[in-house]
Amino acid sequence: MVLNLKNKKFRLYEVRDTDETAILYKEAMPDDFVSQFGSKLLKLINIELATSDYSSGIVFEEYGKLGGYIAYTLNSSKLYSNVVRKHFFKILLIFGTKLLTSPKFLFEYFKVRSVMKKLNSQSTQVELIIAGLKPEFRGRKIGKVIYIKAMEDCLLRGATEIKAIIHEEDPVINNLYKKLGFKERERMKFRNTIRKIMVFSINDQESMEIYKNALDLVNKIESTI
Ligand SMILES: CC(C)(COP(=O)(O)OP(=O)(O)OC[C@H]1O[C@@H](n2cnc3c(N)ncnc32)[C@H](O)[C@@H]1OP(=O)(O)O)[C@@H](O)C(=O)NCCC(=O)NCCS
Repeated sequence: MVLNLKNKKFRLYEVRDTDETAILYKEAMPDDFVSQFGSKLLKLINIELATSDYSSGIVFEEYGKLGGYIAYTLNSSKLYSNVVRKHFFKILLIFGTKLLTSPKFLFEYFKVRSVMKKLNSQSTQVELIIAGLKPEFRGRKIGKVIYIKAMEDCLLRGATEIKAIIHEEDPVINNLYKKLGFKERERMKFRNTIRKIMVFSINDQESMEIYKNALDLVNKIESTI
């Protein structure tokens, strides 16, 4: 399929997007650790992503309607600790309720925390928190554009590495990350599935070439609209 950007717009993530994208997050990544806590927690995280100077995102719109988004942060431990600090009692209630119904979440929480620490070992790294399109927009090359635009913003912000955790078995995600120049750095087991830590590094010449070619293509198409 040829990439068609007519009537489509990509803009920065804003607070007005946080309700709709909290629903989209849960729908797009149902087995993500944070998704298990419901859209109230997702909305609090989204607000921090949209308003903090160390995080940002890109929204995709067609005819003015939101079709998907990507959000990223330069510091995921700061992101989550700020959410907890600013909304302590709400978070306590959300976590407490979840723990009462499913105590194994405490074990998962510590596992996720240790992964976060690993991901955050350098300050010039960016972590991709979420990328999701509404189902009707998937498979039309829009995902690739939204990722390229996010990567462009991350590199402009001084990131030297961009990281994400993906499912080993998901062919779309695996293909997409390869096509963007990401490379596998590490594997880990999480809930009987294998997750891969994928890294894009500006110091990898091959990765930078893939990214630059994709960026050139997007810019060329946009300039003809
Ligand atoms: C992941 C997602 C954002 C990708 O966006 P998309 O618009 O569907 O993907 P694109 O059409 O831009 O395709 C990008 C690449 O993905 C791969 N891909 C897309 N659809 C595919 C399919 N059905 N099978 C295999 N690979 C596929 C291809 O490599 C493609 O690049 P290519 O066409 O140059 O080969 C989107 O599918 C989505 O929202 N999925 C659900 C949420 C999710 O999984 N989020 C990611 C969490 S890490």
